[in-house]
Amino acid sequence: MSTTTTQMNCDVKNLDLADQGKKRIDWANQSMKVLQIIRKEFIKNHPLRGIRVSACLHVTAETANLAVCLRDGGADVVLCASNPLSTQDDVAASLVRDQGIPVFAIKGEDNDTYYNHIIAATEHRPHITMDDGADHTKRQDLLDGVIGGTEETTTGVIRLRAMAKEGVLRYPIVAVNDADTKHFFDNRYGTGQSTIDGIIRATNFLLAGSKFVIAGYGWCGRGLASRGRGAGAEVIVTEIDPTKALEAVMDGFRVMSMTEAAKIGDVFCTVTGNKNVLAREHFEVLKDGAIISNSGHFNVEIDIPALEKMSSSKRTTRNFVEEYVMRDGRKINLLGEGRLINLASAEGHPASVMDMSFADQALSVEYMGSNAKTLKPQVYVVPEHLDKEIARLKLESMGIKIDRLTPEQEEYLAGWSEGT
Ligand code: NAI
Repeated sequence: MSTTTTQMNCDVKNLDLADQGKKRIDWANQSMKVLQIIRKEFIKNHPLRGIRVSACLHVTAETANLAVCLRDGGADVVLCASNPLSTQDDVAASLVRDQGIPVFAIKGEDNDTYYNHIIAATEHRPHITMDDGADHTKRQDLLDGVIGGTEETTTGVIRLRAMAKEGVLRYPIVAVNDADTKHFFDNRYGTGQSTIDGIIRATNFLLAGSKFVIAGYGWCGRGLASRGRGAGAEVIVTEIDPTKALEAVMDGFRVMSMTEAAKIGDVFCTVTGNKNVLAREHFEVLKDGAIISNSGHFNVEIDIPALEKMSSSKRTTRNFVEEYVMRDGRKINLLGEGRLINLASAEGHPASVMDMSFADQALSVEYMGSNAKTLKPQVYVVPEHLDKEIARLKLESMGIKIDRLTPEQEEYLAGWSEGT
């Protein structure tokens, strides 16, 4: 399965793509100022010396900068993909050729290769695992020497918390997703913008004037809805949580059940972290030409097996567009095999937002390296002082100054007697 280059065991598409990948990594780096600051500190102090890290993340230019940062901190890093469609092959090639970091990832790899790549990275016998979707937990048998891990996304954190509750989580995890500097920005603005980018790159569809149905009004859904409105779409939100649904109503969006929305929507995107959100009963009533996509973590939000059964034929009409012809002649267009569309047909989140998420990752790996011994096999949040420091550094990199509490204000906020 793996290719052995002169330097290392790895599996990437083509090392000749490395020149282009290097340019892409450099381009992303320019917008990752917080990570640059952390990297400088890592180069000086090598806080990760001797630590083996196995990272299962989307192999993008931004991730490449994180991997380099960890390596410069002294870690021995190996990288594999957290999704079969999200790998940037040129970036993977440059990481191997120019940085000497082993990568196991090829865009479009089949399921077996995808899992074999995760195993190959896990065979690195990591001390620390980094996941975007809790993928390392699939090979518990290879995780003996692991002291701790980090988790990037909502769905992964939900799974790891469920494992901790059942007592089967084997080591402590820092839930990077739950840091304010992660989900306020990455999930909302990153997913919002890049998902629309993905839908447009796949279809060249005009959002203005269209009915854009968004399933889920969590962090990602909020971002997507506001960006969709900005592009001129009439945004319709579906939810199962009454509070979130109400928030969407008061944010000015139409809210209805998916059964109703399915009849009128032009383009759909699921961002719920749940399964079968678009299912048989919805496919039965979708309009001819409807476009369906997903930006939630797993490709289970759209019931593709049901769509396969209900259709009489399918063909690929464009890159990342499968046209299913239903028995009554209606056509339904599925984007990116129902996988994260922002990474399948676009480039994932912009570097400037990943700057904060990956600053959280880098500092969480450092934190885990120094504190794992005192932590239990549970899911921990990113320490608040690190979260705030990342926000402070990001503001500084943007040239924005904010006020500081005066001693008098600090005393006032800490007390209860004044002003009564
Ligand atoms: P969240 O927990 O903030 O929001 C999910 C929302 O979906 C909740 O409000 C929930 O009530 C709603 N929901 C659940 N089942 C539903 C159903 N059947 N119909 C309608 N709504 C339903 O989670 P967040 O952070 O917005 O993440 C959502 C998904 O996106 C997760 O799978 C996460 O891992 C993934 N994600 C994807 C990214 C990307 O790059 N595409 C980036 C960040 C997260």
